[in-house]
Amino acid sequence: MTSFSNRLLAWQATHGRHDLPWQVADPYRVWLSEIMLQQTQVTTVIPYYQRFLERFPSVATLAAAPLDDVLALWSGLGYYSRSRNLHAAAIMVLERFGGVFPQEPALLAELPGVGRSTAAAIAAFSYGVCTPILDGNVKRVLARWAGIEGFPGEKAIENRLWQLAASLLPAAAADMPAYTQAQMDLGATVCTPKKPACLACPLQDDCAARLLGRQHELPTRKAKKAIPERNTVMMLIRNNNGELLLEQRPPTGIWGGLWSLPEVASTLDAEETCRARFDLTVQLEPALPDFVHVFTHFRLTITPQPAAVLVSPPRLHEAGARWFSPEAALRAGIPSPLRKLLTR
Ligand code: ADE
Repeated sequence: MTSFSNRLLAWQATHGRHDLPWQVADPYRVWLSEIMLQQTQVTTVIPYYQRFLERFPSVATLAAAPLDDVLALWSGLGYYSRSRNLHAAAIMVLERFGGVFPQEPALLAELPGVGRSTAAAIAAFSYGVCTPILDGNVKRVLARWAGIEGFPGEKAIENRLWQLAASLLPAAAADMPAYTQAQMDLGATVCTPKKPACLACPLQDDCAARLLGRQHELPTRKAKKAIPERNTVMMLIRNNNGELLLEQRPPTGIWGGLWSLPEVASTLDAEETCRARFDLTVQLEPALPDFVHVFTHFRLTITPQPAAVLVSPPRLHEAGARWFSPEAALRAGIPSPLRKLLTR
């Protein structure tokens, strides 16, 4: 079978992208495009890239410009730390490297905003250095093709992928720009995260994921952290008028400032808490079924505990607590699980 790199190169010649404005052997242009493309799509980047080059045609003009001018031209691309790093890197190229981008990936990676894979892409595209890239697309292609298990964000897995990428490089420096572009293009257009177009892929004959039907399992996704569980008992305290006791939550924390049901840690404390906090004598009724509300950082299991008021003072003493008719409660600012509970 033809080698991995030759298959990619042949595929690139007919199916890869050849008309991108940064496909030139100029490290300044390549670096600028790689930084812009770090978190932004090609179609969005192109007009920014062109305006940027008109205003800053060389690394020297960029380094000499005020940061504000750089930020203004970046405006709309987002992730502004990229533009601050870009300006700082231009100054570094001038001061440390005499205005010439170095060829060694390790030196390029010292520029602010340039990681290991971006450094390799700059070196390969502009100088034909034989060095592997490993961006998110390439991680996916390699994990599938070689059947590498484990989340690629994990150091050990990432190291294996770097080694594999290094072992697959073409021999000729002249092939490095096309080979590097081929990997990016294959990942972006064929070996996509969902519904990869395996029948259009030059690597299909020996791709482990395809042969085992595991395209959707590789690369392994990040293990979801188990989120902590919390429990609370929400008191549904009703008076003789069919009104419900709500209290306003403190301004900060979850449901800050909203009106919600009084909470107790356990149904065992419920009667005593009603007496101590609200001077209410209540009779507990059977608890309603638990329900779960999921926050970003924890899951809250809520036990709704109904209670009927037997004896109440003429006025509630507790500031921040009030009787609400069910309709008034639904009109007030209340947390969504309480809204669900009330409408049920
Ligand atoms: N994304 C990152 N670098 C790219 C490049 N050189 N071409 C297309 N998309 C890219």
